[in-house]
Amino acid sequence: MRARSLESPGKRAQADRRIYLVSRVLPFALCAASAQAQVRVASPDGRNEVTAEIHDGKLYYSLRRDGRALLLPSLLGFELRGAPPLRDGLHLVDTTRQAIDEMWTQPWGEVARVRDHHNELKVSVAETASTGRQFAVVFRLFNDGVGFRYEVPDQPSLKDFEITEELTEFALADNARAWWIASNRPRLDRSEQLYSSSPVSVLDSVQTPLTLETRDGRTFIVIHEANLVDYARMNLRGPRMEGRTLHADLAPWADGIKVRGRTPFVTPWRTIQLAERATDLAPSVLGLNLNPPNVLPSTAWIKPMKYVGIWWGMHIGTMTWSSGPKHGATTANAKRYIDFAAANRLGGVLVEGWNVGWDGDWIQNRNAFSFTQAYPDYDLAAVARYAHEKGVKLIVHNETSGGIENYERQLDSAFALYHSLGLDAVKTGYVMDLTSEGHSHWGQYMVRHYRKVIETAAKYGIMLDVHEPVHDTGERRTYPNMMSREGARGQEYNAWGGEGGNPPEHETILFFTRLLDGPMDFTPGIFDILRERGTGSPRRPEDPRVRTTLAKQLALYVVLYSPLQMAADLPENYEHQPAFQFIRDVAVDWDTTRVLAGKIGDYVVVARRERNGQSWFIGAITDEEARSFDVPLSFLTPGRRYVAEIYADGPGANWLTNPLPVSISQRAVTATTRLHLVLAPGGGQAIRIRPAR
Ligand code: NOJ
Ligand code: CA
Repeated sequence: MRARSLESPGKRAQADRRIYLVSRVLPFALCAASAQAQVRVASPDGRNEVTAEIHDGKLYYSLRRDGRALLLPSLLGFELRGAPPLRDGLHLVDTTRQAIDEMWTQPWGEVARVRDHHNELKVSVAETASTGRQFAVVFRLFNDGVGFRYEVPDQPSLKDFEITEELTEFALADNARAWWIASNRPRLDRSEQLYSSSPVSVLDSVQTPLTLETRDGRTFIVIHEANLVDYARMNLRGPRMEGRTLHADLAPWADGIKVRGRTPFVTPWRTIQLAERATDLAPSVLGLNLNPPNVLPSTAWIKPMKYVGIWWGMHIGTMTWSSGPKHGATTANAKRYIDFAAANRLGGVLVEGWNVGWDGDWIQNRNAFSFTQAYPDYDLAAVARYAHEKGVKLIVHNETSGGIENYERQLDSAFALYHSLGLDAVKTGYVMDLTSEGHSHWGQYMVRHYRKVIETAAKYGIMLDVHEPVHDTGERRTYPNMMSREGARGQEYNAWGGEGGNPPEHETILFFTRLLDGPMDFTPGIFDILRERGTGSPRRPEDPRVRTTLAKQLALYVVLYSPLQMAADLPENYEHQPAFQFIRDVAVDWDTTRVLAGKIGDYVVVARRERNGQSWFIGAITDEEARSFDVPLSFLTPGRRYVAEIYADGPGANWLTNPLPVSISQRAVTATTRLHLVLAPGGGQAIRIRPAR
């Protein structure tokens, strides 16, 4: 039950009194002052405060933390096609407030229990002009940040509309340092980029989540969005050397319109997460709290798991998606992978390239993909049966290449087929920047598509792993079958990507940026780090390769959260590898997560306790610098005896010339133990701490 308002009747009366004062008195005050009025709302701990004000007929909000300005007055409103902007000549009509404090449980996640504790203020405004159009902005103030959204009621002078610009601003008070990837770049409009870091004043056009650190290092600010349902994805347009104001920048339809809608209408939440330390940013639950609760009648069938796949072979060129002598998705190969998964207690097997459509240029021939017809050397029903007998889940791959209409036409019949074969997991793919129809792959058209796939998958009992997705805005709360996604540069770039692969700092940035919006299917676990490229010519420094030590590959299972976590290498590369034991053992679903140390771009140390168990796992990663950490195990249950199984960088290990040595050791530990972790350059450490038997 949703516990409206505060815990005690006394506090409730207080809250009601506040509603009375604000909503009854301020409109009169406003009429008197006519040009200017202010309303305020603070977080439950009183530290975060938003002021909404009308100034010269325009609506602005600003944000303070501990009395210090973080966002200066920032404009709110819209430009519309065929109508005056919804921005000018506004007056305050009404304000309402409510307070919420409730706990809810995630079916799976980085933490089991989440507290939604916030104070809400709804500010309703209207045009003074005869059009009298109205809208409201709802602010929710949490201790860990702020969410706000527009609500446009049904009204005679505003029915169907087309948004050409959302005018929302984030006017930063400080020239904070941002960790960013670009948006709106021709032929590179994607999330698979390396991060840069610069002061906000020089930003051009960037993606969210955008993580910022004030110049004095006192505050971390993350701008993103939540509950993106029927709207365009928000990017941010930077000040380009003029000031420090970021502007909402919506991804367009082919004709340039940003959003088509009809009142009543609500936008996604714009979110501003706040913390004193980078380590307090994760796990991030602000966006989850701003999404509606689960709508699925049962979530018992939704199971986090580790998986292997007919996958890396295609990326390193030893197998093909297309038919022919190197075709990876054969019945025999699939059975071999299923045997391997079953023998090693890995839950799933992904098979890519099983379906007709990969021959020729599969990106151009996007409409040739069938999602039901297998290649002749792959017997889908037989593989499904075999997987079922072995207790392994077959993950069906659907690459669309952006042929959205082609995919949507087949969606029901494909998912019905998978369901009839007992298959309940699908990995989708959208290798493209524009759809065949010319829409941005992040615009409202695609947001609707991604939502349709989530809903259809839910209807057929299918879990989803989406590659080249629109960014995560917390959909998993409402649809827990929406499990993981890519949406950043993953391991695949170490097989074929530019710049020689992902640099050693990459994952230490991902943790504080992309991973704040949700799980990532990074696909860790490559052991064959120094693989020969098979080109016959000697390896050059710029050739792509994995740029970590092997121990760091293990640590990524703990650091980079995903409920679908791949053991990405070829099964043969795990044979006779003692370090593979960690991948067998590591959990994929967490009760508790603690970030023990971290600096964006330098290092991360995370401890997580498995869901429904007493074991803890620690993952520590560093950039190209060697580092050491003292980790007190005070999170363990006092008085209990545990065994720590430690996978550390071995003697002389470093990512560049000697990535493979791993030292595996065990020691007895308790809550009073301090572990000393030593990480090699580009290295890491992975630890399982299990109760002593
Ligand atoms: C890109 C995806 O990220 C990758 O995992 C997949 O194998 C290829 N597209 C083909 O769909
Ligand atoms: Ca990809």
